[in-house]
Amino acid sequence: MPDTATAAPAQTPTVIRREDYTAPDYAIDSLALAFDLEPGATRVKSRLAVAPAHEQGSAADVRPLKLDGEALKLVSIALDGQPLAEGRDYRVDDSGLTVTAPPQGSFTLEIETEIDPKGNSELSGLYLSNGIFCTQCEAEGFRRITYFPDRPDVLTRYHVTIRGPKDSCPVLLSNGNLAETGELSDGRHYAVWDDPFPKPSYLFALVAGDLACHEEGFTTHSGREVALRIYVEHGKESRTGWAMDSLKRAMRWDETRFGLEYDLDLFNIVAVSDFNMGAMENKSLNVFNDKYILADPDTATDGDYAGIESVVAHEYFHNWTGNRVTCRDWFQLSLKEGLTVFRDQEFSSDVRSRPVERIQTVRALRARQFPEDAGPLAHPVRPDSYIEINNFYTPTVYEKGAEVIRMLHSLLGEDGFQKGMRLYIERHDGQAATCDDFVAAMADANDVDLEQFKRWYSQAGTPEVEVTGAYDGDSGTYEMTVRQTCPPTPGQPEKQPLQIPFAVGLLDAQGQDIPLALEGEDSGATSATKVLELRESEQRFRFPGVPEPRALSYNRGFSAPVNLKSEQSAEELAFLMAQDSDPFARWEAGQRYALRLLLQAVETLQAGGVPEFDTAFIDAFREILRDPQLDKAFAAEALTLPGESYIGEQMQPLDVDAIHRAREALRRRLAETLTDDLQEVYTVNTVTEAYSPEGEQAAQRALRNTALSYLSALAPEEGAALERLVDHYHAADNMTDRMAPLRLLADIGGEAAEATLQDFHDRYRDNDLVMDKWLALQAVSARPDTLERVKALEEHPVFSLSRPNKVRALIGTFVQANPLRYHAADGSGYRFHADRVLTLDGINSQIAARLLTPLGRWARMGEERQRLMKAELERILSAPDLSRDVYEIASKSLE
Ligand code: PHE
Ligand code: ZN
Repeated sequence: MPDTATAAPAQTPTVIRREDYTAPDYAIDSLALAFDLEPGATRVKSRLAVAPAHEQGSAADVRPLKLDGEALKLVSIALDGQPLAEGRDYRVDDSGLTVTAPPQGSFTLEIETEIDPKGNSELSGLYLSNGIFCTQCEAEGFRRITYFPDRPDVLTRYHVTIRGPKDSCPVLLSNGNLAETGELSDGRHYAVWDDPFPKPSYLFALVAGDLACHEEGFTTHSGREVALRIYVEHGKESRTGWAMDSLKRAMRWDETRFGLEYDLDLFNIVAVSDFNMGAMENKSLNVFNDKYILADPDTATDGDYAGIESVVAHEYFHNWTGNRVTCRDWFQLSLKEGLTVFRDQEFSSDVRSRPVERIQTVRALRARQFPEDAGPLAHPVRPDSYIEINNFYTPTVYEKGAEVIRMLHSLLGEDGFQKGMRLYIERHDGQAATCDDFVAAMADANDVDLEQFKRWYSQAGTPEVEVTGAYDGDSGTYEMTVRQTCPPTPGQPEKQPLQIPFAVGLLDAQGQDIPLALEGEDSGATSATKVLELRESEQRFRFPGVPEPRALSYNRGFSAPVNLKSEQSAEELAFLMAQDSDPFARWEAGQRYALRLLLQAVETLQAGGVPEFDTAFIDAFREILRDPQLDKAFAAEALTLPGESYIGEQMQPLDVDAIHRAREALRRRLAETLTDDLQEVYTVNTVTEAYSPEGEQAAQRALRNTALSYLSALAPEEGAALERLVDHYHAADNMTDRMAPLRLLADIGGEAAEATLQDFHDRYRDNDLVMDKWLALQAVSARPDTLERVKALEEHPVFSLSRPNKVRALIGTFVQANPLRYHAADGSGYRFHADRVLTLDGINSQIAARLLTPLGRWARMGEERQRLMKAELERILSAPDLSRDVYEIASKSLE
């Protein structure tokens, strides 16, 4: 269905600016909604209790009432029972409906609209996912259901009646408490839901369909009995156990760590197969992408289990950080998202391994957020303007936003942070708040000044920190000079220094931490790790009374989301890799060392030479392989080289072929030198107990599969290596152990790979989520014919451009995770990419826009590729009827 309502002419996009914010003119005290569900023509009746939110001294002060609305058919409208006349009383355009001269004081507005869930391929508003009615209203989807002030600072009590067919919709759900159910004529029935908590329209939800339910209970800290229900399509209910356990763990954790308890007697989750994002925190009715609910050992990897645990927790945590306290406007998105990501990261760290969680978080931040912050789409954590808000659900708002919260946590400590949280909630419960409100609560609760810290919200770009140190043997003083700069980003040529908590340590020759106190601090303040507070572009820190350090360890725990510019010798890095007491810094030293070797190898390859690698590095790898004390999940991380995209971020112009060859060369070199150790690790880490997705056995699988990956680099085409992969696959009793060899086989290609991929396909052809893995495995393959294969897979029955998970698995993986083949020198990857973005834009513009971002990285490439990429962006921009979403990304990408 062509959706003209969301398409804006490319020439005239309206830019929304934060500085233009004005409070709403009207409050909506309550909203009664009644749905008559029909796939092609659903009727929505709404009754709004409207009250002026500004002074009305006289009739002259009465302002027009502007309601948002998109893709709606208006059936009727009446004010205090009197039908309104178009032209005289109201006008309608593409973006909404305006009651031009409402009466003074409060009044009731009744509106009936008709919508088309079946034709809604944008998956925003009310749509059908595999026959199930469901809604997605964040950020601005509610206006595709009815006319309403669709903005987060209008908080309303909802009373919802749902009428639908009993056979296809036995389950009728909305937010809050179930007030009433009953029978209707013609095989229909109804349910009435009442949500006692006023909420913004983006948290409204409705689900209706034939669903299976997994129910359990939870008793809150203060004794409230909460029914927990997870609804899924029939046949999927056996895969909901892990999500249910995760939910309970999250509820308990939020009580113990944050003192936050659930506030209703019912908490519902519905999982659907077609969803634009991961999940959505609608009040008491979370809607999820199947991917973040369904798991069993046969179909989900350890990583999938971890992802489910964290997303279930994330959405649950939004009940306080997002729902009870919501956002004033969409520029404040990070108020709820940065904070809630921080909370879900802390949850995972508390229930899993903190160092490993931190490493994985930083890996993801560097893979996604750092490139964004260094590219044409860089924006502050709290953006200043947007064309389409859906384009701002970004790694910057989410993941960098969480880093900003984490820095506050480091500056204030756990107690201070929790004091700030309590004040924040006490002040703003039931309100729509701003990022400034949050920081003010933290500052006031702790009696500190956070004015400079707030620059983290307004200034884009990844800061660079450079440390130099000098030891004065005579006085026994170590002096550190720390400089911070930040590269310019679009619209921000000049940057101010930030307040940065920067954790450092000094190691002695035995690898022991040297207790540190700053000059002027009393000696009782010594600690192994010192968190320096950076505030100026250049600062000196003196540590008196210390022996000469052997190595300097900095940004421990990744205390700040910055790039380090400092030079450290290979020996120093190798030493830290083996000795640093901070596990993150230890991992980081290995990554930096590997990166250095890889970048040197790239240069060697470009000059036609054969790369060589330091034996010190290989020795350090051996130590890790042989260290029985080491946490195995940590070891697996430490043994994993930086990814090709991250290596590419460090060079200009980026040479995808040389990067791939360099990384493969290092992998092979490590495998050749360490074959016996790898064999040993591979053998001893065979798991024999019954499957569990976490703990020691998941760590063992991670380490064993890392060893497998190196061993397969030995002589990949050779019989023995291939056989090991195929055997590993067939011996597996869980998805983690099936995916690991299959991923490697897909890169190697040939008969054994094809046969195994076929086996996987045949085994899982009826499992939607596993078929996504099958598509992604092939899209990420380093084989030269990958693009052809991707195109062929588009013809496979499981693929569909209107299903976001399929698009992400096949096309998204190819353009985002396969730099080697995406950046083919002839531009075929780019052409394919642009073609699909254009087609998709007519189906689902949010997904199209999100898919588009890799084309914006052209500035990192060599001249010829730059030209090809820009040409594709221009081709996109010149297409007719472009959505606002794609227009914004494409035009900014060319700036
Ligand atoms: N608010 C959701 C979350 O982060 C993400 C989301 C945004 C989902 C927009 C759908 C649409 O938890
Ligand atoms: Zn969220």
